[in-house]
Amino acid sequence: MKKILVTGALGQIGTELVAALRARYGRRQVVASDIRMPSREEIADGPFEHLDCTRQLQLQEVVTRHRVDAIFHLAALLSAVAEEKPQVAWEVNLGSLYRVLELARQQECAVFTPSSIGAFGPTTPKVRTPQDTIQRPTTMYGVTKVAGELLCDYYFHRFGVDARGLRFPGLISHAAPPGGGTTDYAVEIFYEAIRHRRYTCFLRPDTRLDMMYMPDAIRAAIELMEADAARLEHRNAFNVTAMSITPEELAAAIAEEIPGFTVSYRVDPVRQAIADSWPDSIDDGAARREWGWRPEYDLKRLTRDMIAHLRPKLEAAG
Ligand code: NAD
Ligand code: SER
Repeated sequence: MKKILVTGALGQIGTELVAALRARYGRRQVVASDIRMPSREEIADGPFEHLDCTRQLQLQEVVTRHRVDAIFHLAALLSAVAEEKPQVAWEVNLGSLYRVLELARQQECAVFTPSSIGAFGPTTPKVRTPQDTIQRPTTMYGVTKVAGELLCDYYFHRFGVDARGLRFPGLISHAAPPGGGTTDYAVEIFYEAIRHRRYTCFLRPDTRLDMMYMPDAIRAAIELMEADAARLEHRNAFNVTAMSITPEELAAAIAEEIPGFTVSYRVDPVRQAIADSWPDSIDDGAARREWGWRPEYDLKRLTRDMIAHLRPKLEAAG
């Protein structure tokens, strides 16, 4: 990877991925892009392009002008937003991926695309969900993720496009807010714990889902893209996880650091139904075997690090 384009770069993952890629490959080598306009500080960090990934000509112009040879394609609508706007989600999530893969075929680029635990559905084995298993999701988000996994496989087998990807669990981070997913509670809870010592959670206390701290997720994406292709049996849509937790377990971990913190529950039926259709825990054995994946943050370490970063940030913001 000599010249990298990141789409959806102003989102929860892109904000930290762009910084990590620039630290590793050089500031000028990583072009950030988004349909939104960045702040002054974000622009000052390195090259930025205003880019709608559903527009083939815009994509083509940016990739050609910057001589891009690897695309981290993050532009998408997350699960809850996708359920509100399924038609837009189809076009953004799948339409843009198709355009990115077509461009990668023509310009010989490598592609990274995140899939999700949302690619599974209610008929998938719920505990230690295998790498290769039933995938019949009941959300538009999941439909676009499964179709996207298949499209990446197709472009590799049919055209030799080096398309790799991970099935991310819910991601917890302090740098940028989440974009409207079902796992957003696991970020919101930290903000509210620090500000008010209480939080009203939109999922039931016993809703078990896989989660991961953002530094692990960023490292996973870069390690997969740098992995020896000869070792990759799956190449794409690897299960990865760091922990499988419920809101009440996360709340208990936070209460150890912030005494007096309490949580109440007001369940949002739409997001609860989405969460209930996803696995409790996924098996990431294939990622461990094929490219050496290992998470570094467990629940305790994540909780301490989140609070250590968020507290001064929120205090400074008043
Ligand atoms: P996000 O919502 O925080 O960011 C997405 C970005 O895409 C936003 O900045 C948005 O402005 C941009 N965007 C939307 N439509 C666009 C378009 N047409 N053209 C260009 N940019 C557009 O999302 P995220 O959390 O950073 O997720 C990135 C990817 O990772 C998505 O594919 C998502 O499904 C996947 N993922 C995320 C999580 C998570 O917990 N955050 C978990 C699993 C998978
Ligand atoms: N965090 C994401 C969501 O809830 C999972 O893909 O949409």
